[in-house]
Amino acid sequence: MAYTRKRLRAEAAGTRGEAMTSAGSGVVVHAVTKSLGEGTRRHLVVDGVSLSIGRGEFVSIIGPSGCGKSTLLKLVAGLAAPDEGQVLIDGASAEAAARAKAIGLVPQEPALLPWRTVRSNVELALRVNRRANTGRTLADPVEILSSLGLGEALSRYPAQLSGGMQQRVAIARAYAFNPDVLLMDEPFSALDEFTRERARVALLHFWQAHRKAVLFVTHSVAEAVLLSDRIVVMSPQPGRIREIVNVTLPRPRSRKTFEDPGFPRIQYQIQQLLHSVSGGRESIPWESTEDEPSV
Ligand SMILES: Nc1ncnc2c1ncn2[C@@H]1O[C@H](COP(=O)(O)OP(=O)(O)OP(=O)(O)O)[C@@H](O)[C@H]1O
Ligand SMILES: [Mg+2]
Repeated sequence: MAYTRKRLRAEAAGTRGEAMTSAGSGVVVHAVTKSLGEGTRRHLVVDGVSLSIGRGEFVSIIGPSGCGKSTLLKLVAGLAAPDEGQVLIDGASAEAAARAKAIGLVPQEPALLPWRTVRSNVELALRVNRRANTGRTLADPVEILSSLGLGEALSRYPAQLSGGMQQRVAIARAYAFNPDVLLMDEPFSALDEFTRERARVALLHFWQAHRKAVLFVTHSVAEAVLLSDRIVVMSPQPGRIREIVNVTLPRPRSRKTFEDPGFPRIQYQIQQLLHSVSGGRESIPWESTEDEPSV
């Protein structure tokens, strides 16, 4: 049976995750389930996840490696179809939203075209399906690349870039056509700490100016607290929403946000949740050095 917005809203209560707050605009993930792998190796990766991200809302996902964060992002991006449940972007299917260029995706691997220069990789995002650009304020590729510290690398090819530079080109490519929904999968993971600080601040400015619906995957607790309105903590095997934590720190945010007395409290709450969902496994994301409190 086709899902109507009314029905989605009515069914929201009782599914894992949260009740829907804004089924009309933004992203609605409703009771989504996804298995991956072939034959006997097929296993449940995302189990009954429900989540909504309103226009102008910044939501982060955090959880142990392999808990299904990238898989969930691919479902929202329309790159994979759920086995059960539904993803709606402004009331349309994720596939339709992707075709209309309503979604900007920064994947975990930058996936640049190796035969095109930095500038041309970003410009191509503007040229593909031009009709979908109607009524949109497009960003100037050179300006956006420069704001991400790539002004000197415009004519280089991806093979001539470091991993962190490639990541920043992928970010510029997603920003360039000004999508309503921005999906970012560990976009800053390959950046050195200083560049990462700049990229976080640039993202805050970009989001505060344009108020996208953002779904942002990270392993850094401090980064999630700094950027987010809400943080979704996922537990693994199968991937489920363990808890959604509201980040009530005032906006606009900046480096000064780290000095807010509420910051360490929320950070500790997330760390405790990660500790409990990681079940004493060796690799616990919050033990990484990424969580040093500097933007
Ligand atoms: N194409 C695939 N076929 C089979 N299993 C897959 C496939 N893609 C992912 N998986 C499995 O699904 C689970 C979730 O993977 P996913 O990439 O979504 O995790 P993640 O939370 O993004 O992890 P990380 O933090 O390491 O990026 C993992 O167990 C992974 O091995
Ligand atoms: Mg991933």
